[in-house]
Amino acid sequence: MLNIIILAAGLGKRMQSDLPKVLHPIAGQPMLSHVLGAARALNPDRVVVVVGHGADRVQAAYAGQDLTFALQQPQQGTGHAVMQALPHLLEGDPDDTCLVLYGDVPLVQSATLQALLQARGDGLALLTETLDDPSGYGRIVRDAQGRVQRIVEHKDASDAERAIAEVNTGILAAPTAALRRWLGRIDNHNAQGEYYLTDIVGLAVGEHVPVAHAQPAAHWETLGVNSRVQQAQLERIWQGEQARLLLEQGVTLADPARFDLRGELSCGRDVFIDVGCVFEGRVRLADGVRVGPHCVIRDADIGAGAALDAYSHVEGALVGDSARIGPYARLRPGADVGPDAHVGNFVELKKTRLGRGSKANHLAYLGDAVIGERVNVGAGTITCNYDGVNKFQTIIEDDVFIGSDTQLVAPVKVGQGATLGAGTTLTRDAPAGELTLSRPRQQTVQGWKRPARKG
Ligand code: UD1
Ligand code: CA
Repeated sequence: MLNIIILAAGLGKRMQSDLPKVLHPIAGQPMLSHVLGAARALNPDRVVVVVGHGADRVQAAYAGQDLTFALQQPQQGTGHAVMQALPHLLEGDPDDTCLVLYGDVPLVQSATLQALLQARGDGLALLTETLDDPSGYGRIVRDAQGRVQRIVEHKDASDAERAIAEVNTGILAAPTAALRRWLGRIDNHNAQGEYYLTDIVGLAVGEHVPVAHAQPAAHWETLGVNSRVQQAQLERIWQGEQARLLLEQGVTLADPARFDLRGELSCGRDVFIDVGCVFEGRVRLADGVRVGPHCVIRDADIGAGAALDAYSHVEGALVGDSARIGPYARLRPGADVGPDAHVGNFVELKKTRLGRGSKANHLAYLGDAVIGERVNVGAGTITCNYDGVNKFQTIIEDDVFIGSDTQLVAPVKVGQGATLGAGTTLTRDAPAGELTLSRPRQQTVQGWKRPARKG
C-alpha cells in the first residue's frame, strides 16, 4: 500500500500574507494542488496532508476531495509533522510504503517520485542533489565506501560536513512500519530543538536497512517557496518549461518569456501565439490557429485556421474553423461562433450561436440568441434579453440583414431573409423576406432658427 504524506503545516512568514503559504498559486493553482497532482499520478492508497498554520483554510480549499488531514499544533519539526500523520496511514503488508512530500515544493514531478520509489527496494530512499552552494540544506554524510550514514542539518554540521555538496531535498520514501518505529525513537536534542525527520536515516543505518538515493530529473523540481520572490522565480521556471514543451511540439511562440499557461493547452500543427496571452482552464487550438497579442482564453475550443486578434477575451466558447475574432472581442460562456463567421471589435456574445459565415463586426451585444448563416449584424445591435428577472431568447434566421443601432426585445424572431431597418426597436417577430423598421418618419422644419442669446 502506498501512503503519501504532504507536509503543509509551516507558517510561511516571509510570504507576508494572510493566505496559508501552500494556497499561494503557481500557474494559477495553489502550490498544494501541484503536489497533489504529482502524488495522485502515483495512485496512492491514502494521501495525508499535515496542516497547522491556516489549517481551516487549507482544509476548506480541498473539502470534498479524497484527502485525509492531520493537524500539527504546534509545529515541532519535520519529524514531529510526520508523526501526526501516522495514525492515518494504511498498513498491512511488509512492503507498505510511505512517501513524504512538501506542500511548498510544488514542482516535483511524478516521474521523479516514481524513480525514488523504484530505488527504495525494501529499504529507505532519499531524493538527493549535488549543489554548487549546499548551504542551508541537510547534508548527506557517507562513509568511505560511499554508503549513506546519516543526514546532518546545516545548523548542526561541522565545517567538514558543511563542505559536503550532496544535500537532502527532504523528499523520501520509507517502509511504513519502519518509519513508525524510527519516529518513535527520535528526539529534539539538536541546534533547532526540533524533531528532525532526517534523523530516521541514522536509525535505518543502525538497523542495517539499506539507504538508497535517487536524483530529480530537473533541479527546479525540488525548489521550495518561502517568499514571494521564490514564488515568482518558480512561476517563471514553470512557464518557461510549458513554453519549451509547446515549442518542441511545433507551436510558434512570438516570445516564450511572454507566455502564461494556467491550465492545459493542446495545440495542432502550425499554431502561432503572439506575446502576452494567458491561457486558463482547458484550451484547444486546432491546426493553423493564430492568436494575436494579449488575448485571454479560458476553457475554449478554437477551430482550424481561426484567428483571434489582439486583446480578445474568450471564455467557455467554441470558435469554428476559419472564424475571425477581434480585435477587442469578448466571447462569454456559451458563445458558439460558426465556421467563417466574424466577431469584431467591442462585440460581446453570451450563450449565443452565430452561424456559418455570419458577421457581427462592430459594437454589439448578442445574448441568448440563435443566429443563422450569412447573417449581417449591424453596428450597435443589442439583444434585449433580460427584463431584470428573466432571460429571453432571440432567433435570427439565415440571410437576415440587421441595420445598425437595432434593439431586439426578446423573446423575438426574425424570419429568414428579413431586413431590419437601422434604428429599429423590434418588439414583435419580423416576417421572413420583408423589410421591417420602427422609426418615426424623418421631418424637416422649414425656416427653423436656432435660439439667439437674449440681452
Ligand atoms: C528540511 C530538512 C533538510 C533539507 C531541507 C530541504 C529536516 C529536519 N530538514 O530542512 O535536511 O535539506 O528541508 O529544503 O527535515 N514543516 C511542517 N511542520 C514542522 C516543520 C516543517 O509541516 O513542524 C514543513 C514546512 O512547512 C515545510 C517543510 O516541512 O514545508 C520543511 O520545513 P523546513 O523547516 O523548511 O525544513 P528545513 O529546515 O528547510
Ligand atoms: Ca526548520
